Amino acid sequence: MKALVYHSPDNISLENIPMPKIMLSTDAIVRISTTTICGTDLHILKGDVPTIKDGRVLGHEGVGIVEEVGKDVTSFKKGEKVLISLITSCGRCSFCKKGMYSHCKNGGWLLGNSLDGTQAEYVRIPFADNGLYLLPPDADEEAAVMLSCILPTGLECGTIKGEVQPGDIIAIVGAGPVGLATLLTSKLFSPSKIIMIDIDDNRLEVARSFGATNTVNSADGKAYEKVMLLTDNLGVDVVIEAVGLSDTFDICQSIIAPGGHIANVGVHGKPVSLKLEKLWSKNITLTTRLVDAGTTSLLLKMVLFGKLDANKLVSHHFEMKDILKAYDTFKNAAHNHAVKVIIRNKDF
Ligand SMILES: NC(=O)c1ccc[n+]([C@@H]2O[C@H](COP(=O)([O-])OP(=O)(O)OC[C@H]3O[C@@H](n4cnc5c(N)ncnc54)[C@H](O)[C@@H]3O)[C@@H](O)[C@H]2O)c1
Ligand SMILES: [Zn+2]
Ligand SMILES: [Zn+2]
Repeated sequence: MKALVYHSPDNISLENIPMPKIMLSTDAIVRISTTTICGTDLHILKGDVPTIKDGRVLGHEGVGIVEEVGKDVTSFKKGEKVLISLITSCGRCSFCKKGMYSHCKNGGWLLGNSLDGTQAEYVRIPFADNGLYLLPPDADEEAAVMLSCILPTGLECGTIKGEVQPGDIIAIVGAGPVGLATLLTSKLFSPSKIIMIDIDDNRLEVARSFGATNTVNSADGKAYEKVMLLTDNLGVDVVIEAVGLSDTFDICQSIIAPGGHIANVGVHGKPVSLKLEKLWSKNITLTTRLVDAGTTSLLLKMVLFGKLDANKLVSHHFEMKDILKAYDTFKNAAHNHAVKVIIRNKDF
């Protein structure tokens, strides 16, 4: 089968590799119809995620058809259309019992990390009863694939961890797919102002069309001054970091109002400096979270019933044979006006 294989930073290729096989009785094999690329895959290409080894198939987002199930998979059968969650969970360990599936002792974020992922024709899904979600045969696959990672990430790591409350003034640093997913889910809690900060004017325009009340291009280094102008010099109640850089974390630390919440979502490959000399007296809360994907079912219902326009996030389409072009397009998002790039396997 064809698969996108990682070798070393900035060295990936589309290759023919053996098909995955059922290894445990709780596994399923899914034939991928639709997949996509995450900002985390770009961090992997930069060498920011050291758990990825030479030869790994990348990708943790996907929709497909169940091809085969192990004998202990009870909720799915061959031929059903499914959404794949990026998180693998056994459902039995102490972390799963606490709902912290991302830290499952037998799972966590494995796909496209320490196990072969979804940017392929087929993928093996461990603990398939927990990691798959049944989709109606006519489900919009492009909307559904936004539920594998970015919508649960935006809701859990951004909106919920940041404790967005009705009336809050919030800022989201990074208007990539995860920042935009955070924007969409933050609206469920009725903030009064949503200030979107990025260096890409196209993505800021997309953010306005999604309901951002204000946008700030921070390329001139003046994010702090611009946000203070928008907030009567108070700063914001909640700021969500959705980039993963020291500069963008610094913006968060500078614009947070007393009593505010900084919710870090970005994957950081390098240290940041915590400005405790300024923050110690500001009564702030700082949170980090790896997405648990415990909200996938509720988000799926919202997408299926038209309450969340997930397919608005899609900007480009490619076939699997052109996946390297899809990576180039997503890597150079500003130049290409890209948000989320869809990759389809042919014959679907
Ligand atoms: N915590 C989690 O569980 C989790 C899950 C998924 C993704 N993530 C992380 O979320 C982050 C966002 O993902 P994405 O898919 O939206 O990525 P992306 O790379 O598509 O988007 C990042 C955005 O940041 C902007 N940006 C870059 N440098 C900037 C700067 N100096 N100032 C302001 N904006 C800047 C870019 O223009 C882009 O719009 C990534 O770090 C990703 O790894 C975390
Ligand atoms: Zn992701
Ligand atoms: Zn577990």
